[in-house]
Amino acid sequence: MYTRMGHLLEDRRIKLFRSRNLALRLTLYAVACVGLSVIVFVVYSPFRQQILLRVPMLQSLIMAGQKPAESMSPEEVFQYLHWTNCAACQLPVDFGFVMARSGNPGGVAHPDGQKLVCLDQFIAPVFNNCLVYSFGINNQWTFDEDMAQFGCHVYSFDPSMGAKDHNRTDKIHFFNLGLAKEDGQSPNGWKMKTASSIYEMLGDYHGRSTLVDVFKMDIEFYEWEVLPQMLQSGFLADKVKQLAVEIHFNAGDPLENYQKRIRILQDLESIVDTINSDDKHVGGFIRFSSRINPGLKRAITILGNKPDFVGYELTWYNSKFYNSPSKEGPVFPYYQ
Ligand SMILES: *[C@@H]1O[C@H](CO)[C@@H](O)[C@H](O)[C@H]1NC(C)=O
Repeated sequence: MYTRMGHLLEDRRIKLFRSRNLALRLTLYAVACVGLSVIVFVVYSPFRQQILLRVPMLQSLIMAGQKPAESMSPEEVFQYLHWTNCAACQLPVDFGFVMARSGNPGGVAHPDGQKLVCLDQFIAPVFNNCLVYSFGINNQWTFDEDMAQFGCHVYSFDPSMGAKDHNRTDKIHFFNLGLAKEDGQSPNGWKMKTASSIYEMLGDYHGRSTLVDVFKMDIEFYEWEVLPQMLQSGFLADKVKQLAVEIHFNAGDPLENYQKRIRILQDLESIVDTINSDDKHVGGFIRFSSRINPGLKRAITILGNKPDFVGYELTWYNSKFYNSPSKEGPVFPYYQ
């Protein structure tokens, strides 16, 4: 009798346990479904833009798990600078590569003058029908010459060389002026213009709606005032397909200075929908390379004087123009 009762009780317990287990499972499924729907809604809904802009945590989650610049530690600042999304471009190619020798006799040979350009089929400059802006020449013409060999018209700018406006070749056009956040004169008397003013000035040469295939700048700290201006004016989003910038820091800068500059890069790299966006802080630029400038290794104050680099070559393409053929030209031989 007892044993039969015992069996019955046990049976019931098992049934009870099973049904509880089922309820638990169903609850878990429901939670998972709701979670998944929320993710799908956020990623695919037409309100994605609004949602992401209002939920910074989600935005930074989607931006490859990056932290916002303002809360980065010194170590995270440098991780961010070194970080490179190489999968974004299958065919990054150096233009302007030379083996240079350092100044003193018997100096060590080192690569110099090169910039990466992404030659993936859907973002590459069209051979013989392309446009390059090159800021900061310092008498080192190899990048400009290689782009000209590729058949691009190259507009080269440098106010520090003391050279007059001239056509260096039929494809390379030099201007004695510099890039700045406003038109005018720099404290040392150089003529300066914004990217939009320069584009307008050159309208008669290259047309008034042509995209700049490669916009290169190596302008010794001016990048930090120029990039935000170019973002806010919409010039970067509307006119630039690829961007190559040497960025600079000071080894002794406080963390706040680094964070402010990384904020500029994060705005540029923000991948929230740019096409329907009114927010000019949003760049939509995809970083496909980060390379150190090996000559700029310094003891970094905020890293407790650990050595790291204060110069990086960053290259991006504009996600808006990926896969949107813009020009007619011979088919790029790699892709025939
Ligand atoms: C460079 O060549 C263009 C024609 O391609 C011409 O219009 C321009 O005046 C020349 N610039 C200089 C400074 O000689």
